[in-house]
Amino acid sequence: MSLQITPVLPDSDNATVEAYVEVMEALRVYEMPAFPPTTRREFDSYRAHPWPWQRSQPYLATADGVPVGRLVLQFPTRDNLKNMSVDLAVLPAYRRRGFGRELLAFAEEQARANGRETVMASSMWTLPELGLTAPDEAAPAFARAMGYRDTLPEVNRVLDLAKVDEDVLQEILDHARAKADGYQLVQWIGQTPEELIDDIAYLDGRLLQDAPMGDTAWEPFEVDADRIRRTEAVMAARGRQLYNSVMVHEKSDRVVAWTTLSLEADHQWHSWQQITIVDPDHRGHRLGALVKVENLRYLRQHEPQVTTVDTFNAHENGYMISINEQMGFRPQYSFQNWRRDLLGNPAE
Ligand SMILES: CC(C)(COP(=O)(O)OP(=O)(O)OC[C@H]1O[C@@H](n2cnc3c(N)ncnc32)[C@H](O)[C@@H]1OP(=O)(O)O)[C@@H](O)C(=O)NCCC(=O)NCCS
Repeated sequence: MSLQITPVLPDSDNATVEAYVEVMEALRVYEMPAFPPTTRREFDSYRAHPWPWQRSQPYLATADGVPVGRLVLQFPTRDNLKNMSVDLAVLPAYRRRGFGRELLAFAEEQARANGRETVMASSMWTLPELGLTAPDEAAPAFARAMGYRDTLPEVNRVLDLAKVDEDVLQEILDHARAKADGYQLVQWIGQTPEELIDDIAYLDGRLLQDAPMGDTAWEPFEVDADRIRRTEAVMAARGRQLYNSVMVHEKSDRVVAWTTLSLEADHQWHSWQQITIVDPDHRGHRLGALVKVENLRYLRQHEPQVTTVDTFNAHENGYMISINEQMGFRPQYSFQNWRRDLLGNPAE
């Protein structure tokens, strides 16, 4: 069987797009069945409303006309210009026939052709200390065989809202409020209020500096009000609703802690935890715990149908994880980030 790699383009025929979404969905069911399904509408809306400053190219892999896998190449276009990320998978029934190797060689060729020096990928990962087992051990074996090194383990934790203990949440809040004199809670849905946008941009820009990034090659980038607005516009166009809670430092009138929960149009039962960040000058006041618990309550007031919240943390992010665990989040899946530096590693 010989492999064919077909770009999925805006004018691709319906059968190609359908096949691509089916491959994505089959892989989700195999690897992360608890996550929301992949829908055609979602895929179309992602393609119609791409992230600003990132070029993303999906490909369908077929062998003798049969879909066997998929590939997505992502090229940041304003920062991280030496980096490319790749999302690559082969359906379980078609593995160990060299398709993964061929897809990755194609991806690396594209990286080189676009002046990229580092390729990054991610995969499922087994973390025995948390009792998390990947569905198989193919990814690390493959990644290492292809010259990639592991850079940062991450853990997904899930909160089952039916099991949330309101008394525990109240305790976390009481404890946090006792240490958070002089800070005021502000909440909003959707677009950031104009008067807060510069502070939000500042905090967003700090995230890549402050969050554990392991040995990945991601470089922090400038975030300004325009970047925030353009990103918000994409999320709104995709049908994503955003619930935000921040703490404002009363003396300086600055936003110093921020967290966001998102809700996708197609999965009203489910929410993703997005950014949580506290300005380094204001740590130690339990503002992280405060905004997270307040934001969860805010979401539940407006979206009582939500049953599940998923969050991701670097495995080493002890402070954030301890807040999540107190709230009732429990480990569900783990992931590894992979990296290969192409310079000095000529194509085999
Ligand atoms: C990882 C993955 C893409 C490999 O696809 P594949 O088509 O089976 O890979 P190949 O047949 O090209 O394997 C290339 C080499 O990788 C190594 N390899 C791949 N799977 C392996 C496994 N299960 N056990 C041991 N080695 C393995 C071998 O060295 C293999 O060469 P060989 O068959 O000549 O010994 C596939 O298992 C997959 O889709 N996994 C889930 C998605 C994923 O994790 N993607 C990110 C990877 S960084």
